[in-house]
Amino acid sequence: MTDNINIPQFPEPYWRDSVTFPEFPKLEESINADIGIVGGGITGITTAYLLAKQDVKVALLDAGVILNGTTGHTTAKITAQHGLIYDELIEHFGTNKANMYYQACMEAKQFIEQTIEDLTIDCDYGKEDAYIFTNSDEYTSKLEMEKKAYDKLEIPSELTDHMPIDIPMKSALVMKDQAQFHPLKYLKALVEECKKLGVQFYENTTAVDVEYNKHPTIVTREGNRVTCRYLITASHFPFNDGEGLYFTRMYPDRAYVIAIKSKKDFPGGMYINAESPTRSIRTTSINGEDLWLIGGENHKAGQGKSTMEHYKALQDYATRKFGISDYAYRWSTQDLTTLDKVPYIGRINDDQDAVLIATGFRKWGMTNGTIAAKILSDIIVGSDNPYEELYSPSRFQADPAIKNFTRINADVTKHLIKGKLEYTNHSVKELSQDEATVTRIRGKRAGVYKDKEDKLHALDTTCTHLGCEVEWNSGDRTWDCPCHGSRFSYTGDIVEGPAKKPLDKVELD
Ligand code: FES
Repeated sequence: MTDNINIPQFPEPYWRDSVTFPEFPKLEESINADIGIVGGGITGITTAYLLAKQDVKVALLDAGVILNGTTGHTTAKITAQHGLIYDELIEHFGTNKANMYYQACMEAKQFIEQTIEDLTIDCDYGKEDAYIFTNSDEYTSKLEMEKKAYDKLEIPSELTDHMPIDIPMKSALVMKDQAQFHPLKYLKALVEECKKLGVQFYENTTAVDVEYNKHPTIVTREGNRVTCRYLITASHFPFNDGEGLYFTRMYPDRAYVIAIKSKKDFPGGMYINAESPTRSIRTTSINGEDLWLIGGENHKAGQGKSTMEHYKALQDYATRKFGISDYAYRWSTQDLTTLDKVPYIGRINDDQDAVLIATGFRKWGMTNGTIAAKILSDIIVGSDNPYEELYSPSRFQADPAIKNFTRINADVTKHLIKGKLEYTNHSVKELSQDEATVTRIRGKRAGVYKDKEDKLHALDTTCTHLGCEVEWNSGDRTWDCPCHGSRFSYTGDIVEGPAKKPLDKVELD
């Protein structure tokens, strides 16, 4: 059914392919700044913009190039409908805090709208209704519970058995007047504005450590230092844990997106189902045509079937439901979920109160990243922020935190032991081009990838974070860790932390 469609050979998000970014230098010396930000995604850039507007001197560092992490791989929905969340928030946090969560999301949406207007940004922004739908009886009752929570929080909504898009469903909950945009067109404009306001950007500059004396100092891999009044870690997984043991308090989840064209007309709306496997649908415009973004297939990072099978499952779904006339892009993304599903935003701990973090956005980074920027910039300039307490990283909500803490860490222990024992007897000689295997070299577990020029890349598969065994991700050609989500390129370099060191190379005989 899908035989005539060309599958994009390499993963690349449409967002990055459709915008050209300015390039920035590597940091080659030690500098001082009021604020040092690590991470050039929506949180880091929006925080830099907010602070620079208030005459604060900001230096922003990115380990790679800006806007190529989670922000560059999103589906870019600007919504307060973060899956099924409000019934659970009311149960665990109470009505007041659940209401604050909703208000914070709506303020983020308004902030984005206002910024687009203020800076006259052309970023394909459009208002859309957001739907969560289901085909299962179990989730039909969960949607009814969620609707009751919406009503309690006075969220404009409707429970319906009809959606504009023609896909099978039993029930759907619609949140009115949400939005979508092209995230990188929006953020490129913010970067340009930041440059005018004096923000210093540094790319290919990896922060590896923090020295905390009178002021925090970021130390880069080359040993250069950025000494600042406040340090913000906006690097997805905090590059500096600050003894907060964040890797025990979050789990990484992977998801996939394919971008296709269909002969069907898209009727408007943004859609996500409630059950597994996840299916998320929206469109964006490319040269006057609809580009359908079909996302989903969420699973814990580094675990589960071959990553190409996840893309295939989305392709089969799109073919069956809408028909594919062109398969233009595919990409995947990884995000972190906290113990109670509310992001950690604020001071990393009481002892290092000039170190701030923002993480755990649970795939809703457009609103959560914008909320984070507002909270962090308010902390720095000393303005009260009504949401600071709700998102504080040092909060402890016993229910559901204890249950989820145990679950996450039991899973890590399982992988720590299990991964050591798993390898194949494949001979490296049998590898085809663009294929990888886990084998033993001189008795030690090793991962070997053969690239398109027949060159072999052999690595020690022991993750340099805490010693779990990485697994091959065939879709992205990376080695992914199932424990806390570190990712490494096939040459062993770090793609994502918490690991700070590359994988060790192994000599082939
Ligand atoms: Fe923690 Fe690999 S990311 S052990």
